[in-house]
Amino acid sequence: MRCWFGHTSPNLACRMTVAFCGALHRVPLGAVLRRANRCRFLATATETATTAPRGTASAPPRLPRVLSGVQPTGNLHLGNYLGAVQTWVEAQERTESYLAVVDMHAVTTGPSKALRQATLSAAAMYLACGIDPERCVIFAQSQVGAHAELMWLLSCVTPHGWLNRMIQFKEKAKKQGETASMGLFSYPVLQAADVLLYRPDYVPVGEDQRQHIELARDIAKRYNDLYCAGKDRNTFNVPELRMTKSSARVMALDDGTTKMSKSAENDGSRINMTDTPDVISRKIKRSKTDSFVGLEFGNPQRPECDNLLSIYQVVTGKTKDEVVDECSHLNWGKFKPLLADALVEHIDPIRCRYEELMKDKAYIVDVLMDGYEKANLQAIRTLDRVKKDVGFLTLGDMRKIQKKRKV
Ligand code: TYM
Repeated sequence: MRCWFGHTSPNLACRMTVAFCGALHRVPLGAVLRRANRCRFLATATETATTAPRGTASAPPRLPRVLSGVQPTGNLHLGNYLGAVQTWVEAQERTESYLAVVDMHAVTTGPSKALRQATLSAAAMYLACGIDPERCVIFAQSQVGAHAELMWLLSCVTPHGWLNRMIQFKEKAKKQGETASMGLFSYPVLQAADVLLYRPDYVPVGEDQRQHIELARDIAKRYNDLYCAGKDRNTFNVPELRMTKSSARVMALDDGTTKMSKSAENDGSRINMTDTPDVISRKIKRSKTDSFVGLEFGNPQRPECDNLLSIYQVVTGKTKDEVVDECSHLNWGKFKPLLADALVEHIDPIRCRYEELMKDKAYIVDVLMDGYEKANLQAIRTLDRVKKDVGFLTLGDMRKIQKKRKV
């Protein structure tokens, strides 16, 4: 095991040695510490990969593995945060998390604006929300070639009819008509590859991704049936879907019956994680309401009321009963400033951290590089197994044949 400077000593000793060498080489302290962290990070990655196969007696008890991701299209919004990223943050100490910026998904509906910048920005937002790069693997999907390769192989085991049922395709294709791409159609297979490559135990997502994750589970089962029957273990885990009840579906501010979304034309329909306090207050002030007296959860005639109260509940961390006690007698004029303040208190520190992080893109790149190395290691391992199952003549096979000839 070697650190960046070629030392063989691990962790603290290595950090100190690295700091010392950094001083000798006149590397700025921030960069030295980041490298030191990275060294520890890489050490963990390599050890896990080479000496601790999952589930063996000598390996330390393994944490549940998680895979999830967000598309870097536009800014992350409150729905992405409450439905996905916040749940990753809460779980990170109890899991081994692979968190992708799924940039290949961002091009399914045509060229994606400033994709490179959006990818860095999404990674920075993961960090600003509290994802710890020493605990989690943060990576850009397009850098790990195995995603596209596995997608092809999974396409060959996925019945066409399964994809015809995908609601998101139908919704998006409606807008694009005949020009909707093959990529948009087969996107859920890419998502299945994203998931299955990492053999996760569960996938935390918002409600809108339920159908895609169920499809990934079906694809995993079908693949295992076709290629692993009679073998001592299946190639793919069939991961669970995980959602948080209270925030699995954050609705738009201008219509409580449609989900908050990056692609909605009206920016006032969503709270972006980069919105300033003034913008947040203005958006909440203008959000759609109704003329009922008082405020309540769960009335189907009042979707906006249910949505705004649910957002309030999640960002304040209060229970439903506490929110009912506090708010049921309020009118909109009293409740909206309360909600706006609670949102600002929760989100503004994230926005400030994000802005700081975006000033140091080299650091974000360091994190993504580390993530790439770790993710790629795991992804290649799964892909190699798939190639064996399928029966491709692998480089390993060819080397064995050559070796035999030489002896
Ligand atoms: P995306 O980028 O649309 O959304 C990222 C995550 O945010 C959740 N989400 C929401 N949750 C609650 N309320 C909302 N209004 C809301 N809007 C979005 C999504 O459910 C998701 O968890 N195809 C996926 C990205 C993806 C992926 C994966 C996810 C690609 N490969 C593998 C998990 C695992 C997507 O477009 O999510």
